[in-house]
Amino acid sequence: MCGIIGVLGKHEVSPIIYDALKRLEYRGYDSAGIATVNEGTLDRRRAVGKLINLSDLLVHQPLPGRAGIGHTRWATHGGPSVANAHPHQAGRVAVVHNGIIENFRALRSELTEQGVAFDSETDTETIVQLASQYLSQGMTPVQAARATLKRLDGAFALAFLFEGEDDLIICARRGSPLCIGHGTGEMYLGSDAIALAEMTDRITYLEEGDWAILTRDGVQIFDAEDHQTSRPLTRINAAQARVDKSGHRHFMAKEMAEQPAILQASMAAYSGPGEGGINLPEGLDFAQADRLILVACGTAYYACQVAKYWFEQFAGIPVELDIASEFRYRQPVLGRANMAIFVSQSGETADTLAALRHVRPHVGQVAAVVNVPTSSIARESDVVLPIHAGPEIGVASTKAFTAQMQVLALLALAAGRARGHLDADTFAARMDDLRAAPGYIAQALDREDDIRRLTEMLSKARDVLFLGRGVMYPLALEGALKLKEISYIHAEAYAAGELKHGPIALIDEDMPVIVLAPHDALFEKTASNMQEVLARQGKVLLISDARGLEEAGEVPWRLQMPRVPDLIAPMVYAVPAQLIAYHTALHRGTDVDQPRNLAKSVTVE
Ligand code: M6R
Repeated sequence: MCGIIGVLGKHEVSPIIYDALKRLEYRGYDSAGIATVNEGTLDRRRAVGKLINLSDLLVHQPLPGRAGIGHTRWATHGGPSVANAHPHQAGRVAVVHNGIIENFRALRSELTEQGVAFDSETDTETIVQLASQYLSQGMTPVQAARATLKRLDGAFALAFLFEGEDDLIICARRGSPLCIGHGTGEMYLGSDAIALAEMTDRITYLEEGDWAILTRDGVQIFDAEDHQTSRPLTRINAAQARVDKSGHRHFMAKEMAEQPAILQASMAAYSGPGEGGINLPEGLDFAQADRLILVACGTAYYACQVAKYWFEQFAGIPVELDIASEFRYRQPVLGRANMAIFVSQSGETADTLAALRHVRPHVGQVAAVVNVPTSSIARESDVVLPIHAGPEIGVASTKAFTAQMQVLALLALAAGRARGHLDADTFAARMDDLRAAPGYIAQALDREDDIRRLTEMLSKARDVLFLGRGVMYPLALEGALKLKEISYIHAEAYAAGELKHGPIALIDEDMPVIVLAPHDALFEKTASNMQEVLARQGKVLLISDARGLEEAGEVPWRLQMPRVPDLIAPMVYAVPAQLIAYHTALHRGTDVDQPRNLAKSVTVE
């Protein structure tokens, strides 16, 4: 949720930390701050709102020092304010923190009873106050950090910086990712490798429970039992990890435009000498699975919802679908013959990770469909299926959605063959459909000008309905989610046939209704539901192919999509859903890449 960074540099670190925070801003943008040690003196600057406000502050109040930590915040405990912004400082220690300290109330009252006065409403301040207490009892910084870590419950990543210590940062990972970057005479730490990509391509990922002592000479890593340990040093592809808009106005625009190339590259990555020219990682046994459990959040959940249709159709396997944040709080009946698949762009979503940990001991196989192969969800799964989408920075997930669907489609087809449910010819034909997807997506992207024009009327709406049947129902849900999160227009999605069971009462001449309906086996049914809306003066925008538009008759607004094979229709129709949200948001002047109240990676439950 929040982004953290640490630098022990040869030169002034504030500008370096600020630049790294820019790359982490997608994780939260409620406030930001930097602390440094300069000739032994600990000092900090913090500002509410976007990072640019911190930049303004640093212009007027520079922050010298060659050792520093920085933070960009997504508020959990305590609203966005300077007092609640990180780094938090007490006495001789400052801390940046991502995650939640679950026992902070108990710690806070214990410290308050000892006379400690708190400056903020955050859980983080308990960390820094505890560490400060330990320092004043005569502990060294390392002892104080270790003693503090032992008192904390919850999932977090954090970094300590100490007054008088120009060559020391202590950091810890428990439940939230943290990686160490190796420079030449410099050391770094960050919430992800993207943050460090401009500084180094040599990265060590801390394991769960690890804590580490950084000096400019290197890093000492300790496991949860305080045994010194070593973790592999990996080289990242710094060019791939670097993030820029490549000339686009927004990351979201760039990421939508990348979709054809990404799907093509991902298909190539999964190509091989296997059946149908496809190779999946070893270790998945669909033939032995009696049930599939698909778990995810948000957009990734909608990709799973589409995939449910495919697994049932192509593989004849029962599929259970769950929202990760709900999954643990019912009593799902699990068994060794079940296969669970967790889908997550970031691979760090706390709800999805918690669901994975809950399921792990009970099911036979655990697979992850992720964009970040080094993520926690990937590490804790038996089999990892990367979606090869590259860094997704826009808070609204776009390219990850289509890439997730592509990998899930590959899996469903492979499952169909493994289970003897799909004959070789049909399998080969569906594989050809998948290979054609990038071309059709490119055609859908070419409709951008038409979509821009249509969104002028949508941008004035207070509420919007999306309708779809079959695989277009999850697409309707995704369209409504995209519109809500970046344009702040209230949007709902319904299975088209469900409208008459209540929501049709909402229809009037002010309510735009977007109908996603390729001319497939369900088209006539959806068209009938659309007529029910039209009969009540609803303002329908029909998104269909030439045949669907022709058969639909008079409709106020229409958008023509290419005629596509059924299998890839959800990937192609994702594009108008995304572009509608994007252009509506532009008309309304909202912040497309960093919409209010949100963060890209949701690492709190
Ligand atoms: O990283 P994940 O795929 O696990 O994230 C899941 C959701 O938080 C994410 O899809 C969210 O709903 C997006 N903002 C939607 O655009």
